Amino acid sequence: MTAHPTPTTAIIVVAAGSGTRLGAGAPKALVDVDGRTVLRHALDGVFAAAPMQVVVVAPPGREEQVDAEVTASAGERRHLASVVTGGTTRQQSVAAGLDALHDDVRIVLVHDAARALTPASQIDAVADSVTDAGVIPALAVVDTLKRVEGDDIAGPVDRSVFVAAQTPQGFPRAALQDAYAAAQAAGDDHTDDAALFSAAGGAVRRIPGSERAFKITTPDDLERAQLLLGARPGGSCMPRIGVGTDVHAFGGEGSLWLAGLEWPGEPALSGHSDGDAVAHAMVDALLGAAGLGDIGQHFGTAHPEYAGAHADVFLARTAAMLAEAGFAIGNVSVQFQGNRPRFSARRAEAEEVLSTALGGAVVTVSATTTDGLGFPGRGEGIAVTAVALIHRS
Ligand code: CTP
Ligand code: MG
Repeated sequence: MTAHPTPTTAIIVVAAGSGTRLGAGAPKALVDVDGRTVLRHALDGVFAAAPMQVVVVAPPGREEQVDAEVTASAGERRHLASVVTGGTTRQQSVAAGLDALHDDVRIVLVHDAARALTPASQIDAVADSVTDAGVIPALAVVDTLKRVEGDDIAGPVDRSVFVAAQTPQGFPRAALQDAYAAAQAAGDDHTDDAALFSAAGGAVRRIPGSERAFKITTPDDLERAQLLLGARPGGSCMPRIGVGTDVHAFGGEGSLWLAGLEWPGEPALSGHSDGDAVAHAMVDALLGAAGLGDIGQHFGTAHPEYAGAHADVFLARTAAMLAEAGFAIGNVSVQFQGNRPRFSARRAEAEEVLSTALGGAVVTVSATTTDGLGFPGRGEGIAVTAVALIHRS
């Protein structure tokens, strides 16, 4: 077996809070952001920083779930990480983490899991800056500050002497442990480690923090995190598009069904179900956007219940499948190529039927001829292209 050198730096990730202000019905660290939890994002930052011991402080009773998040994020560094149970205050949770440090650790970082998008570079910068003094990342205060008495504005405040503190906060291990022992003996409860370290007489310096290291506290903060993640290619908050095509030949029985409408007197299209190529292309565009497969898989000949079904049945079922998968439909744009039927007079009617079948999503339909070229131009059939835009609901 390869012997791993024991790191001399450790990070305690406190994740034991209940998240009262977020009010998501679960401990904040385990709340979903974009398919990944707050904690998972925080750990991804931690494990992207330089190797160090990682102690994750879990909400009581949620240790197994936290352990699974650690395993998912740690990769080859799993042996550096452990999970301990938190206490009723943040300070008690940090104290539980301190008890789990390896003997060789000389520098300790304390990090809020709630600062889920903290860049790895900020973690490294704090670790690299610790001396005998503690180090905190901090941002200048941008708002104009006021001193208040109740609802009365009592006076201005010089904001240049304030900064907003972030995490991780880094300290020499022995001095931090002494400071914790002193705070516990005195019965003091501090909201961050810099306050506790200062109270014990330690010096603390600041280095630049980053906007992305903001703390997820309220539902608005969670939305901000989701928007930031969505701004990345592949981020699941990005809208998703799908494309669908369909072709049917004329030659079916009965009357033509196209774009959700019956067209008496027009030659029918052939195909399983009613041959409504507009509806079928829309279904494929929607399923494709959601990554749910295609029309053949869900409505093909293996599903005889759809034989003869019209657009409303296909589209309503497709919309339900997307909703079950957590997607809402933005809009669908569809165009068919064909000489017949003459479409413009019934465009509004078709759009309304198709939109209603999708639960009200915007559907727009257009038609074009092909100058006599190809099978649509020769009047043999109809070709359709649909594009759908969907987003996470
Ligand atoms: N924390 C902790 N143990 C506690 C309280 C808080 O580990 N007993 C952690 C939280 O999980 C969070 C960090 O300390 O990562 C900062 O706390 P805060 O943002 O206040 O989180 P919560 O206490 O969970 O939220 P709230 O105050 O809204 O209940
Ligand atoms: Mg709290």
